[in-house]
Amino acid sequence: MDNLLSMEHLTTNEIYELIEIASGIKNGSFKPHNYEDKFVANLFFENSTRTKSSFLVAEQKLGLKLIDFETSTSSVQKGESLYDTCKTLEQVGADVLVIRHSDTTYYNDLNSLKLPIINAGDGSGQHPTQSLLDLMTIYEEYETFKDLNILICGDIKNSRVARSNFQSLTALGANVMFSSPKAWRDDTLEAPYVDIDKVIEDIDIVMLLRVQHERHGDEETMNFENQNYHKNFGLTKARYNRLKSSAIVMHPAPVNRGVEIDDCLVEAEKSRIFKQMENGMYTRMAVIEYILQTKEAAINEIAN
Ligand code: CP
Repeated sequence: MDNLLSMEHLTTNEIYELIEIASGIKNGSFKPHNYEDKFVANLFFENSTRTKSSFLVAEQKLGLKLIDFETSTSSVQKGESLYDTCKTLEQVGADVLVIRHSDTTYYNDLNSLKLPIINAGDGSGQHPTQSLLDLMTIYEEYETFKDLNILICGDIKNSRVARSNFQSLTALGANVMFSSPKAWRDDTLEAPYVDIDKVIEDIDIVMLLRVQHERHGDEETMNFENQNYHKNFGLTKARYNRLKSSAIVMHPAPVNRGVEIDDCLVEAEKSRIFKQMENGMYTRMAVIEYILQTKEAAINEIAN
């Protein structure tokens, strides 16, 4: 694996290997390499709490040195292109770039760079490390993906998490269903749209999505009603009580409490929302380890 740009680029074997490495780091059975001779830059052109902080911790646990980069104080503010910023970081010695950007498939402009790129979220395209941490969390629970009934609920059209997880979970043999207002459907993803109240008792995982107000037009935002959405598509206490005893609740966060999920359910017994965040750090260590070891192996092969 040279880069991590989209879940579509990973084989199921690579997904299982990454989960195994992340789980091994978590339980102490896998010792990653030390990368104190390597440099990383994190380029976040969109806001982030979880992804950025967990990458920062993962990188420092792996010994990587951080190149200080903030879009707000960089020459991005003078109109520098994404390619020129990344090429500059490559030239000054970065060994890996972690990038979040509002443009879907921004990474297509960076094809000619020689250093690995890890996509930390591209517009409404992909969020591969989120998908991997979600898969790790599901695997910890069920030790399989095959035939799990998974309901992804909410703003499907604008969600990179929905797209990444639909692709990976389907490839791994899960049954993925969607529930969303008509305006937020994405007909390019071939999963059935269902009424949450008709399936709630049969699902193993309910995965709630954040309402992506930043990707909506003014009129859509003005017409949106929190209470109405919560009543029709949210995880209410009544729906939670109808879940199977073994079912779990997931959400990539940040959470709009009282919209996608009742405030009192965010840390309920079946919720794995904070477990997902914990697993995010191990997943990001695993991704960096995997990519840098692939690069090392390629360099050694050329040298020999
Ligand atoms: N889930 C997620 O990507 O969260 P952040 O936007 O806070 O990184």
